Amino acid sequence: MGRVRSACLISWMFFVCISSGLETTIEPTTESFTFSNIMENGTEWMTDLSDIESKFSFRTSEEPEDDLCYIVPGEPQSIKDCNFNQETKTFIVIHGWTVTGMFESWVPKLVTALFEREPTANVIVVDWLSRAQQHYPTSAAYTKLVGRDVAKFVNWFQAEIDYPWEKLHLLGYSLGAHVAGIAGLLTKHKVNRITGMDPAGPSFEYADAQSTLSPDDALFVDVLHTNTRGSPDRSIGIQRPVGHIDIYPNGGTFQPGCDLQNTMMMVATTGLRNMDQIVKCSHERSIHLFIDSLVNQDHQSMAYRCSSKDSFNKGMCLSCRKNRCNKVGYGVNKVRTRRSSKMYMKTRDMMPFKVFHYQVKVHFFSKAKLNYNDQPMKISLYGFHGEKENIPYVMPALNSNTTTSFLLTTDADIGELLMVKLIWEKDTLISWPWWNSDTFHIRKLRIKSGERQSKVIFSAKEGEFSYLSRGGEPAIFVKDKEAQSSRKNQRLHKLKMHGSSFKQSTK
Ligand SMILES: *[C@@H]1O[C@H](CO)[C@@H](O)[C@H](O)[C@H]1NC(C)=O
Ligand SMILES: *[C@@H]1O[C@H](CO)[C@@H](O)[C@H](O)[C@H]1NC(C)=O
Repeated sequence: MGRVRSACLISWMFFVCISSGLETTIEPTTESFTFSNIMENGTEWMTDLSDIESKFSFRTSEEPEDDLCYIVPGEPQSIKDCNFNQETKTFIVIHGWTVTGMFESWVPKLVTALFEREPTANVIVVDWLSRAQQHYPTSAAYTKLVGRDVAKFVNWFQAEIDYPWEKLHLLGYSLGAHVAGIAGLLTKHKVNRITGMDPAGPSFEYADAQSTLSPDDALFVDVLHTNTRGSPDRSIGIQRPVGHIDIYPNGGTFQPGCDLQNTMMMVATTGLRNMDQIVKCSHERSIHLFIDSLVNQDHQSMAYRCSSKDSFNKGMCLSCRKNRCNKVGYGVNKVRTRRSSKMYMKTRDMMPFKVFHYQVKVHFFSKAKLNYNDQPMKISLYGFHGEKENIPYVMPALNSNTTTSFLLTTDADIGELLMVKLIWEKDTLISWPWWNSDTFHIRKLRIKSGERQSKVIFSAKEGEFSYLSRGGEPAIFVKDKEAQSSRKNQRLHKLKMHGSSFKQSTK
């Protein structure tokens, strides 16, 4: 017991170190665990149910937290006793590595959310806690045996009640995602879907497809990557794509609201006991994004295929043509066009996580040669349904006679865009008395909305150009007049009139 405890502590610290980006001074000793090859010699082992160690807890919506009924492989009566519904979908939830040896708090939350979306579904939680609370590399190696347990279980009850394969959906978190993958590989028939929630990285980044979650493991495999910081194999979440669709929210490295400052604040206020919760913030965000997709159907997040995180952050990938965009989470469209399709999205720091994505494209003219880096801007968007004012944005580069493209997000739907306001903030450190000379001329601005799939051209509100100067007046742009209906014109007119920063319209 003592040995196991200290091993846990070391692995736990390893997790802390890699996730907080601190120097990784403590590493787990790489003991190699050799299990006999599980794929060997046909399918004879498949029907031997005697060595299954994992337990299969059949949950109910009334008591999502409690293990009230187990379905026991080899005991058909247990299927009936648990009131398994043969007509409806079955979700099999698989947890990951655990320090405490208990189910983590997300388990009942996910179970509840699954029932909220699919009230009559069967939700089964796999309990492999005893193998999951070992030294991390040991638990990682156990994924093969647990995957085998799950495959045997599924094969058994499928055959027992002739359950349709297309109603099976496996959901695995962290190590549990690889368990789901191995299970999917070993079932007699492909299950309909596997959802991987931040599949574990250490021991898996360079492992072969048979040992990790992969697109071959189900008819459709969708993956959320939320904590992939650091070098490969050190990162808590696997970095490479392992499904048909791999979504990297906020670039996949790290999630908003999980920063070190927040972390330290929480440690200070809630004590060290909650440290592991905090450390797992980005890792576990994958689950909460999925829960969000189950319960907030009216706030369906969208993700966009993109060749890189950088291109996405420039707003270049907001197209929905040819399946380039997709719904995130439960309602995903099961497109399997390409093997590894990396998709990106931004989120809020809390539920509902949805944001609206915009690409802003603007050409900066200037007579004199001007070059700036990292300039603070405040951008306001005014739409048909509302407005979002003073969205902070740091412009990476601001150069004469160049076109810049960047990504802007709002957390609310402001509808079709009507007006845009740009403010170039004065540098707080250095205040130039001659700032007036730093002026860009902007004739037009183009904004593309990812969620609306529309492009709108804006032109200077008055005259040919709007002027953007450091610390100066806002540059204001309105939608090209010809394209507007009269109702929109009224709204636009109201916007123009409102607020001190808006002068009387010249119209
Ligand atoms: C598996 O096959 C090998 C030869 O291919 C044989 O030596 C071994 O006994 C077999 N094992 C089982 C469990 O059948
Ligand atoms: C930018 O372009 C305009 C018009 O094309 C030109 O008059 C101006 O000199 C250019 N500015 C610089 C810095 O090259």
